[in-house]
Amino acid sequence: MADQKKILRALAGEVQAVPPIWMMRQAGRYLPEYRATRAQAGDFLSLCYNSELAAEVTLQPIRRYGFDAAILFADILLLPQALGADLWFVTGEGPRLSTIGAQADFDRLKPVEAIHETLNPVYDTLRILKRELPSETTLIGFAGAPWTVATYMIAGRGTPDQGPAHALKDENPALFAQVIDRLTEGTIDYLSAQIEAGAEVVKLFDSWAGSLNGADFDRYALEPAKQIIAALKARHPDTPIIAFPRGAGDRYEGFGKATGADCVAVDDAVTPDWVAAHVQKDGCVQGNLASRHMVTGGAELVSETRKVVDALKHGPHIFNLGHGITPDADPENVQLMIDTVRNG
Ligand code: CP3
Repeated sequence: MADQKKILRALAGEVQAVPPIWMMRQAGRYLPEYRATRAQAGDFLSLCYNSELAAEVTLQPIRRYGFDAAILFADILLLPQALGADLWFVTGEGPRLSTIGAQADFDRLKPVEAIHETLNPVYDTLRILKRELPSETTLIGFAGAPWTVATYMIAGRGTPDQGPAHALKDENPALFAQVIDRLTEGTIDYLSAQIEAGAEVVKLFDSWAGSLNGADFDRYALEPAKQIIAALKARHPDTPIIAFPRGAGDRYEGFGKATGADCVAVDDAVTPDWVAAHVQKDGCVQGNLASRHMVTGGAELVSETRKVVDALKHGPHIFNLGHGITPDADPENVQLMIDTVRNG
């Protein structure tokens, strides 16, 4: 496997003395060059749909830091938009969408076959990146998991407790199931098209999986992930898949086996020692330094980075943060984290 890229080797189960590293939201507002390109594009969504500029911001953190992976620049909310939801971003606040509260709202959505006409620029971004990326850098595509995307589609915005989605799930389970099913099918076709356009790995972001309890977790986090992964494996058996059921806590254990994911990404609410014993025993893991260290830096950043590397060095590991880097992070701290991972 020595000729393969470091990320692909980890995903194939290889234990490496120095783990490969990339960072969630590595193309983002903490970087001055990102802010400049976003200003050039006009706004965030225009940047997502401008293939040349989206490829440019994807490449910026690769040029600056030499990460082992580049993640496609796009957003999990482009799929609902492609399915016909209205979507806009309010600066300083976040996303807004048309809501789903009744069957008629769902019935206005488009069929899955229609998504590509909106999402074609995303596939073009991947084609540009495939050409432009250094040969050692892995290209990662992604989508949101159905539950997380549904929480935004139902509420029309981000919510602290995903209350509106929980209410629809409990009060109108038949309608809720239709939303999840449409998103599951759409996600399969979207990720499949990303792979065909050049994504070498795909990641499924279930940012709000942690708010699903008991049987709901199995039904709406685990089961859709399993279906998406099975369908992708049937079409693209050689493409590794990373699942990120954020906030899953002790339900991270067994998630890889139950869904067929090649790697489970973990947030920083679980300790790296616990992850080594309970998740990495089944295969590759990705994570999980707290992103606040990218703001605070210093000796604690170094010691906590070493803790993650040491705890996970006996199994396949991709170093990452526990969640996305925040806009107030210091780019110098990112360099310090990378140096610590690579040089000890
Ligand atoms: O990781 C990367 O660098 C790749 C690109 C990427 C973005 N969003 C770009 C982005 C990825 C993988 C995402 C995923 C995403 N988007 C998630 C799941 C991961 C997570 O963070 O939990 C979610 C929930 C979203 C939805 C979303 N997009 C929200 C809630 C917001 C607003 C919050 C914020 O940070 O401003 C976004 C906007 C967004 N997506 C930005 C970026 C770089 C900031 C937009 C800007 O430039 O103003």
